[in-house]
Amino acid sequence: MSKHLISIEDLTIQDINHLLKRANFFLQQKEFSNILVNKLIANIFFEKSTRTISSFQTAALKLGAKILNLNIESSSGEKGESDFDTIRNISAMGADSIIIRHYDNMFPHLCAKDPLIKSKIFNAGDGVNEHPSQALGDLLLMTHLKPNLSDLKIVICGDILNSRVAHSHIKLYNLLGIKNIHLVAPPELQVNYCDLYSNLTYHYSLKEAIIEADIVMSLRIKKEYMNNKIFSGIFDEFKNFYHINYDLLKLAKKDVILFHPGPVNHDIEIEHKLITDLNYSKILDQVTYGVAMRQAILENILLN
Ligand code: CP
Repeated sequence: MSKHLISIEDLTIQDINHLLKRANFFLQQKEFSNILVNKLIANIFFEKSTRTISSFQTAALKLGAKILNLNIESSSGEKGESDFDTIRNISAMGADSIIIRHYDNMFPHLCAKDPLIKSKIFNAGDGVNEHPSQALGDLLLMTHLKPNLSDLKIVICGDILNSRVAHSHIKLYNLLGIKNIHLVAPPELQVNYCDLYSNLTYHYSLKEAIIEADIVMSLRIKKEYMNNKIFSGIFDEFKNFYHINYDLLKLAKKDVILFHPGPVNHDIEIEHKLITDLNYSKILDQVTYGVAMRQAILENILLN
């Protein structure tokens, strides 16, 4: 296992299998443990978060680590301190690891390379680049709900261009050899990875892509990564053609499951009632399984 977790590219198939095994152990374990006793883990989020920050914190507490949450809004950034200096200072206080979310692609990667930062770095989402722990947690849930991974038709729908979650999912499926992956987006938000991956099919039509799907993962429009003109130009198109509802799900397999990494905008990406319909929606299970996977990730990197 690599020293840091920045990208799915840091992992081998053996690493992923080991993480799945340990995460399955943590799913069963109800008691808190002392596996990471005497470890100090810092959460530094330059961008807002509900799930990832709390999930890493919960995972660290369940493993007996101490947590330091730096509130960026009351940090010295406004006095001119650079974001790198913020990370260097927390590292100098002896944090064994620093979990970083940042709006710049590759910021956690640059921290991991910085000779003044000794802590192990975890990427909790960097710009539009990657969100590896989210993809690994989702994979854990998939192995429980749909164990025949290599036979599945997986549809990812929404703002793929700006989705770090989608990018980590795509890299993970490619590494695992999962072949039937369909990316659906309006033209402005679609990607083209033809030179990189051969397991992807691109669509503009959700109605076409969703036929016989086993898993549908919906993504919100990442308004914060586009200018207002582009956002207002695509918002109606998105609502009309990329909104998942009961009628569209009828075209998928009968036992189709619905994922969304959150935050969800009700009645925009997904019909309001469907979000809480547990026959389809596994959105809160993604959160539960995400904690167990982050326990496995923290254990593996901090004890090596
Ligand atoms: N899934 C996810 O990254 O959610 P948050 O932005 O709330 O952390």
